Amino acid sequence: MKILVLGYKGMLGTDLVNDLGGTHDVAGKDIEDFDITSASDCRDLIGQSGADVVINAAAYTNVDGCETNKTGCFSANADGVKNVALACRASGIKLVHFSTDYVFDGTKNDPYMEDDACSPINTYGSSKLKGEEYLKEISDNYLLIRTSWLYGKHGKNFVGSIVERAEKTGKLEVVDDQTGSPTYTVDLSAAVKVLIEGDHRGVFHLTNRGTCTWYQFALKILEYRDMRNVSIAPIQSTQLGNCAPRPEYSVLSCRKFADATHRTMRFWQIALKDYMASIR
Ligand SMILES: NC(=O)c1ccc[n+]([C@@H]2O[C@H](COP(=O)([O-])OP(=O)(O)OC[C@H]3O[C@@H](n4cnc5c(N)ncnc54)[C@H](OP(=O)(O)O)[C@@H]3O)[C@@H](O)[C@H]2O)c1
Repeated sequence: MKILVLGYKGMLGTDLVNDLGGTHDVAGKDIEDFDITSASDCRDLIGQSGADVVINAAAYTNVDGCETNKTGCFSANADGVKNVALACRASGIKLVHFSTDYVFDGTKNDPYMEDDACSPINTYGSSKLKGEEYLKEISDNYLLIRTSWLYGKHGKNFVGSIVERAEKTGKLEVVDDQTGSPTYTVDLSAAVKVLIEGDHRGVFHLTNRGTCTWYQFALKILEYRDMRNVSIAPIQSTQLGNCAPRPEYSVLSCRKFADATHRTMRFWQIALKDYMASIR
């Protein structure tokens, strides 16, 4: 397949190119090549790509930044998706797009299913939901993948921040009232490859298996890094003072993926251990 990855220099985009590039003819474009907020950029780039599949991993991903730059956030995460979807439709190209657990409000007590009602509680989630709505309105040939709590080698993420802060200060306070599923971008990329090669369509949830709070996640990071002398305390989200509220519970059910592909994602602890070993 000929595949075009938008946002190929991002954390997920880099792993998608690495993984898919082994089997397919993959090209990548990022902010220096085109602006997703420009309809003509998207039309020209995608129209001339000759791609069978476009993967959109470009987005405005600073969750707190979205609260202070609502226009920029909606331009990239909503209007940008509209631009890409229109360009893909005009050229008859399948579009693979990513969304987030933050489209849900976090009031459920069991894993969110693909068709559960969305009700975002922050601007990032609202912009990603608007992007989903544009995608569904414009395209009938799409794969929409919601994922959560990403970390990987090629971007700023929670694992790196915990290690850096632990090394610098030896003392951490981490929120213990938000529950989700950490997801390694390498595992996500491999699962996306399976969905693309199986020509699956529609909405899928994809995360590593199992759940934890950010505090429990941080404890495992320290354990796998052999940083046993670091002092770590659980705190409440309100003590952190972030401008964007986060859902208390944003675990996504990946049952649909398992049923469709007969595969399951690894437990988050196993994926994290692999990742920690790879960055040593
Ligand atoms: N990170 C997470 O925890 C998480 C969780 C759930 C879902 N997701 C979703 O997963 C996808 C990938 O996330 P990620 O963390 O890999 O993102 P990322 O590392 O921030 O990468 C996004 C890429 O898009 C580029 N970009 C930003 N604005 C653009 C524009 N106007 N035109 C063209 N390119 C632009 C960025 O360039 P610059 O770096 O120069 O801005 C960057 O290279 C996104 O759709 C995100 O919403 C992420």
